[in-house]
Amino acid sequence: MLDFTFQLPTRIIFGRNRLEKIGGEIKKNANRVLLVYGGGSIIRSGLYDRIIEMLKDNGIFFAELSGVQPNPRIDSVRQGVELCRKHDLEMILAVCGGSVIDCGKVIAAAYYYDGDPWDFFTRNTRVTRALPIGAVLTIAATGSEMNGNAVINNDETKEKLGLFHPLLYPRFSLLDPTLTFTVPADQTAAGSADIMSHIFEQYFSPTPGTYVQDRMAEAMLKTCIHYSPIAIEEPDHYEARANLLWTSTLALNGLLSAGKATDWATHMIQHEVSALYDVTHGLGLAILTPHWMQYVLNEDTLPKFVQYARNVWQVTAADDGQAAREGIDKTAQFFVSLGLADRLSEVGVEENQIEEIARKATAYGSLGRMKKLDAGDVANILKAAY
Ligand code: NZQ
Ligand code: ZN
Repeated sequence: MLDFTFQLPTRIIFGRNRLEKIGGEIKKNANRVLLVYGGGSIIRSGLYDRIIEMLKDNGIFFAELSGVQPNPRIDSVRQGVELCRKHDLEMILAVCGGSVIDCGKVIAAAYYYDGDPWDFFTRNTRVTRALPIGAVLTIAATGSEMNGNAVINNDETKEKLGLFHPLLYPRFSLLDPTLTFTVPADQTAAGSADIMSHIFEQYFSPTPGTYVQDRMAEAMLKTCIHYSPIAIEEPDHYEARANLLWTSTLALNGLLSAGKATDWATHMIQHEVSALYDVTHGLGLAILTPHWMQYVLNEDTLPKFVQYARNVWQVTAADDGQAAREGIDKTAQFFVSLGLADRLSEVGVEENQIEEIARKATAYGSLGRMKKLDAGDVANILKAAY
């Protein structure tokens, strides 16, 4: 195990009917907030009305930024910064999924920066201050509710780039599983694939001696495998939604990566796919992951894939090679069983763009830790997934 420092500053408020707690949490930080939300799911579910009532009951002034899209655009960040400056806002309240929370995080940082917020992503500037951020999560997927990451799309440059800074952790996140009852089957499936992918990116690591991290990762994978089909079949199944929601948070809050080198090649490739084609993040990962697994499976990585197959999928094949391949096959079959596509061609990706996606994914260097991938390797994975 490698050395590490671990700290989590986010207060998690988990459970049914705990929205009334939020007023007090906001008032610890601010009296004037920017309410950020997406394309309308919170209005349709009635959550919007409850949030507005809570803000009014607590005497909190608010302005609104609505219409943040999945794969959030840098333009929404720019609009949010303008609103914060115009109304002297003191905090961001992001209500929805990872796209809205990520957008809120970058608004929070860009508020204190005079240049263009895209500069944070091109590494032309660093985050130095940020408004406090609070989140009300409505979909189990990204882990943005308890981490310092933000991923934003730029339509002009056709890029999707990520940022991490400790100042971007939400001060609090409300996780009420009942708020995820309305997530449709396709988004539930994509969210589960994203959670599983986060776990894979950290589980499949060359670092030896990470027994406890590996067992935690396997437990989280089994939770997704057990509860995702139940949540899709029965959307208001509280235990299924609660377990998926808490797993989404635990899967990307630093717990699984502490003490390890982590991979993230599949995510880097997927981000380039979503930059060009606006594919749902988790769906792209579900398509790519089994092909990444097949591609990096070799003599060195075999033991980890055998462990995965036996511990997560209860594969009993005595031969190690066969066991590893069965584990990968079961992963692919599971994503298909959730109703997710298994070919890039099915989600609008054009074959003639594969080399370009591979080039952009490796523009800042080779990817991955299980096996180093250059542009040619990435193109091979994309072709296999096509
Ligand atoms: O926009 P509305 O109408 O609100 O609908 C949303 C959206 O269409 C809908 N939705 C969310 N909660 C709902 C619901 N519909 C009905 N009922 C509910 N309760 O779901 C759709 C997707 O929302 P989105 O926020 O895009 O989903 P997700 O949480 O999967 O976020 C994906 C974004 O996060 C980034 C991804 O790249 C992508 O841009 N990521 C962020 C990470 C992070 N900050 O740590 C890590 C991830 O790897 C990922 O890259
Ligand atoms: Zn992800």
